[in-house]
Amino acid sequence: MTLLTKITNEAINENLEKRWKNGEIYASIITYIGHVLISVNPFRDLGIYTDQVLGSYRGKNLLEMPPHVFAIAEAAYHHMSSYKENQCVIISGESGAGKTEAAKRIMQYIAAVSGGGQNSSIQEIKDMVLATNPLLESFGCAKTLRNNNSSRHGKYLEIQFNAQGEPVGAVITNYLLEKNRVVGQIENERNFHVFYQLTKAAPPEYQEAYGLQGPESFLYTSRSGCLDVEGINDVTEYSETIKAMDIVGLQKHEQDEIFKMLAVVLWLGNLLFVEGDDGNAAISDPDVANFIAYLMEVDGESLSKALTSRVMETQRGGRRGSVYEVPLNVTQATAVRDALAKAVYERLFEWIVQRVNLSLQTRGGDQYVIGVLDIYGFEIFDDNSFEQLCINYVNEKLQQIFIELTLKAEQEEYVREQIQWTPIKFFNNKIVCDLIEEKRPPGVFAALNDACATAHADPSAADNSFVQRLGFLSSNAHFESRGSKFLIRHYAGDVLYNVEGMTDKNKDSLLKDLLNLAAASTNSFIAQTLFPERIDPNSKKRPPTAGDKIKLSCNALVTKLMQCHPSYIRTIKPNDNRSSSEFNDKRVLHQVQYLGLCENIRVRRAGFAYRTTFEKFVERFYLLCPATGYAGDYIWQGDSVSGCLEILKHNNIPQDEWQMGTSKVFIRHPETIFALENLRDKYWHNMATRIQRAWRAYVRYKWECARKIQRFWRQNKYNIGYLQAREYGHELLGGRKERRRFSLLSMRKFTGDYLDVRGGTGLATMIRNALTLKGGEEVVFSMRGMTLVPRAMRSSVPSPRTLVLTNQSLHVLVTTKNGKMITMTDEKILSLNVISSVSTSTLRDDWIVLHVDNSPDGDTILSCIFKTELMVHLAQQSGGRIRVDATPQIQYKKKGGKTVTMKFVKNEKIPRDDVYKSHVVNVPSGESANSASMPPCPTKPRLTATSSRKPAARKPAASAARSAPRPKPAAAISSPATSRPLPPIQNNARPTPPPPPPAPATPSHPQFKAIYPFQSQEAGEIAFEKDDLLEIVEKDENGWWLARKDGKEGWVPSNYLEEYVAPKPTPAPPPPPARRAAPPPPPSAGSATSSSPKPRSSISPPSIGGGSTAPVAVMPGIAAPSSNGVPPWKAQLEARKAAAAGGSGGSPAPTPAPRPGPGAAPVPAARRAPPAPGPKPAIPAKPSTMGKPVIPARPGSGAPTPAPRAPPRPTSTSPPSNAAASLADAVSVIK
Ligand SMILES: Nc1ncnc2c1ncn2[C@@H]1O[C@H](COP(=O)(O)OP(=O)(O)OP(=O)(O)O)[C@@H](O)[C@H]1O
Ligand SMILES: [Mg+2]
Repeated sequence: MTLLTKITNEAINENLEKRWKNGEIYASIITYIGHVLISVNPFRDLGIYTDQVLGSYRGKNLLEMPPHVFAIAEAAYHHMSSYKENQCVIISGESGAGKTEAAKRIMQYIAAVSGGGQNSSIQEIKDMVLATNPLLESFGCAKTLRNNNSSRHGKYLEIQFNAQGEPVGAVITNYLLEKNRVVGQIENERNFHVFYQLTKAAPPEYQEAYGLQGPESFLYTSRSGCLDVEGINDVTEYSETIKAMDIVGLQKHEQDEIFKMLAVVLWLGNLLFVEGDDGNAAISDPDVANFIAYLMEVDGESLSKALTSRVMETQRGGRRGSVYEVPLNVTQATAVRDALAKAVYERLFEWIVQRVNLSLQTRGGDQYVIGVLDIYGFEIFDDNSFEQLCINYVNEKLQQIFIELTLKAEQEEYVREQIQWTPIKFFNNKIVCDLIEEKRPPGVFAALNDACATAHADPSAADNSFVQRLGFLSSNAHFESRGSKFLIRHYAGDVLYNVEGMTDKNKDSLLKDLLNLAAASTNSFIAQTLFPERIDPNSKKRPPTAGDKIKLSCNALVTKLMQCHPSYIRTIKPNDNRSSSEFNDKRVLHQVQYLGLCENIRVRRAGFAYRTTFEKFVERFYLLCPATGYAGDYIWQGDSVSGCLEILKHNNIPQDEWQMGTSKVFIRHPETIFALENLRDKYWHNMATRIQRAWRAYVRYKWECARKIQRFWRQNKYNIGYLQAREYGHELLGGRKERRRFSLLSMRKFTGDYLDVRGGTGLATMIRNALTLKGGEEVVFSMRGMTLVPRAMRSSVPSPRTLVLTNQSLHVLVTTKNGKMITMTDEKILSLNVISSVSTSTLRDDWIVLHVDNSPDGDTILSCIFKTELMVHLAQQSGGRIRVDATPQIQYKKKGGKTVTMKFVKNEKIPRDDVYKSHVVNVPSGESANSASMPPCPTKPRLTATSSRKPAARKPAASAARSAPRPKPAAAISSPATSRPLPPIQNNARPTPPPPPPAPATPSHPQFKAIYPFQSQEAGEIAFEKDDLLEIVEKDENGWWLARKDGKEGWVPSNYLEEYVAPKPTPAPPPPPARRAAPPPPPSAGSATSSSPKPRSSISPPSIGGGSTAPVAVMPGIAAPSSNGVPPWKAQLEARKAAAAGGSGGSPAPTPAPRPGPGAAPVPAARRAPPAPGPKPAIPAKPSTMGKPVIPARPGSGAPTPAPRAPPRPTSTSPPSNAAASLADAVSVIK
């Protein structure tokens, strides 16, 4: 509307017509003081109030959507929630223009959007508020010539909301019910709907009890000759009314009373009077009177008397005189009857409103209200009386508010705030309001009151007196006195009022006789509820007149409305025929004119759509500028004026779009303020998104951490006991005994049963068979070792043994070979109970002495590479009783009780381990006794579910390299990268070495050979068998390499692999074993220096020379000395050294027999890759059960402390006999 090029009433009219004919019934003028919605009644269903349309207006500002009554409702609701301000929607317009419809749509919208969810109390309020519409329409609306559902009273509904914007209660204020309609209507109009509903659809019980018949049977409903209304079904509406009564909480007995009173009214209409011989009125049908008396529960005689006579009282000099009864004529009696009927209905209506208010009483916590005013429209009839005067007065007052706020106050504010402004002229109807309501000089109401006061006995005398008094108003330009009529120039048109009966209507006093009659009723609903007042005969106070009442309630309404932020709905009636196609230009133009729409648009166009104080502006929008708000906090240090400017400038609001007043900032267009509001919403939205994102990240991180912990725990829970045992071992010997360098390399777990005696096969079975175990005896530790074997007349010599420690004793097993038969026997069983202590030296050797109490065999001397662990288990199994001593020399008892001293001498010439001879152990220096082990190797990288490669995040370079052309390793550069199949394993290919191929197909990646079988345990790993060749795609420092095998990629443990160097033409590779004619007899231990690589996979029994029963060197690195006294390991070493010195560089030197685990001897740097594998690296298999590991006690803390208990070695899921197999492998290698 504000975009019209020409702002004239005609242009507005034309615009409205175009819209209306197009089915667009709404137009809006968005102003600061209040949004104005213009609604032109379509007189047809446009389908624009559906839930879908309603939903589309939710949360939208007025500019986002086409004008609609829902947009106004949304704006009011949003304004209330956001600005914490009470709201009111003032709906005005002529009768039939669509006020009530608009009010109902506002309620529909608010009920739909105002939350409450599952809260039954809030839903109940909503249902009740909506139910008030059919209820009050039944009792307060009637068919008129202008409107089939014309509101014959004014209604202001205030919905109360809590701080969350949920409805918690409501209050209805009723204004001036048109009670005259109860007793008579002009032709083709009807009484209030409820009478027709009751007479047409009353249930039999009511029909019988209240004597109800059809509407044609009652004069009050039939006299105007209109019983039915097009489009209204009284029968269905009756049930709607009952339903509404139920919803608002009217009890059955209350409903009964209501319908009983309606019956009283209806029957009063049928009470006729005849003129008696004396000229006085007499009741024509006493049965009717008696039935009314029965319904009213009063005495029949009293009723007749009250209707046909009046009690008068003479007064003399202000004192009460004698009382006498004056009979009434027929006209007077009929007037009294009608007065009673009107009084009953009016009071019943007011009681219903009060009762509804009681049900809608706030549930508490009400903070704001949205009021909806649906009041009768301006009325100009041919014959206008007191009712029209009141109605038009109220409309003048409402127009006054509109003018006051949208035109006058707004312009005054611009002047006050020193905003550049050209005043816009408008008609201020205050002069008309004053004309009607002023006391001095007296207005119309004051004149009426005066007339009533002076000539109270005779209505016509009072009317005359009123006419005389009106003469004083003639000076007012909006008033004209015309004999028995007078004209008022209202803002909406000139209205000629008829004076006749005005004073009587203004008096509005019910006859004392009728009040006394009602008070005498035995029905408390009549006596107490409807007619509670009692006449005080001595009171001289003049009861308020109808004019007083309407003035009072109207001014109260104006005060209320002025305290709210208003929105206006200006309803326009396009024609008087309820036609959906006729647009009566003249009629509409008239309405456009008197509604002041033209001025409204002008002020809006020239003015500012929004203004607020500097403080409020800054408070609302400080978030939109980094200088004023940070992370939701207000940070501006300057005053609020500079804060406003900062916000406006930062948001690039053009200079002509705003002005700074003296205390307020003014924004010209609503678009600007909506844009700022939008930014503000977005700010919170972004903040909410950020918080959500942070929360989600936190939750994800929490889960990731939890998963990491779980994964770590799953991977390590089986190892914790082993690691604790090791930790205990460190504490046991820490600072007391030098350490082997390899022991420091990493955190080896103390897994105990290295020979897998508990569950293994092969060698382990052999051991198990040899063991003599008692019931309940369980293996906790098994290992190869040595013991000192006494020799006759000569000093003892070390001899290999298998050591098995159970929870009860230490078993020393010996392996002998008789011919080809290998036998193992449990040579010595040493109960833990007899071991008093264990001694070890302070040097890095592997010898320990078990001191045994009172044993004829003396103490037991053992050498065991895992001696610390053995001592831990001894301590552990004895509950910490067996003490561990570390001394430079050890004294022990030999067989027979002789004490011998075992000496330990540092000898750097000893290449590795130690050498025992004649009570002297030569041992090279070890690491400091205080050295600590290095932390364990990092675990292998985790593979993502989608890729078997390492996650890019951990190694961006690697992944980038993969996608980009990869730089080739030096070795690979010379040979083209190829995806050819791997070359066949050469030593199995042919009996004789093949001639070197002209262009050897070199794999693109270095190749490694498996030295142990590996069974993958997780996705992303690849399994392989021993001797398999693998291409290594990527090496990771943590020990897990990305390998390719048979076209598949996956992770493999690097220490299971050994670099594979394709054999050179010379020297010739050993003939493949399959082609051997006959295997030569196994070489003796002394010939272990053979450089021929041997397959390592078979678990061949250790070869023992010459069928002797001498103990066999089965312990790698601790082989029995060869016949020439040189231990095989030394022979090997020397052979390798010789080969290196000779520079032959031919065949790869045989890998020295590795010691299990980190205890293995250092490998020369050149051969460090692949690292010399120990016993098969521990990839912990998961045991079926796992006890909680015992926290180890610190050694040396006084009383013997129980040692930690290592968990049982996994048996169920571990690959069978891994340890035994690997040990056997090692054995085979060393030989
Ligand atoms: N938006 C609308 N869409 C369709 N029909 C409408 C609309 N508004 C009003 N009407 C029609 O016009 C009739 C009169 O409307 P309504 O009762 O709201 O008028 P009113 O302004 O309240 O009149 P009164 O002052 O007599 O109470 C309604 O019964 C309805 O048929
Ligand atoms: Mg209405």
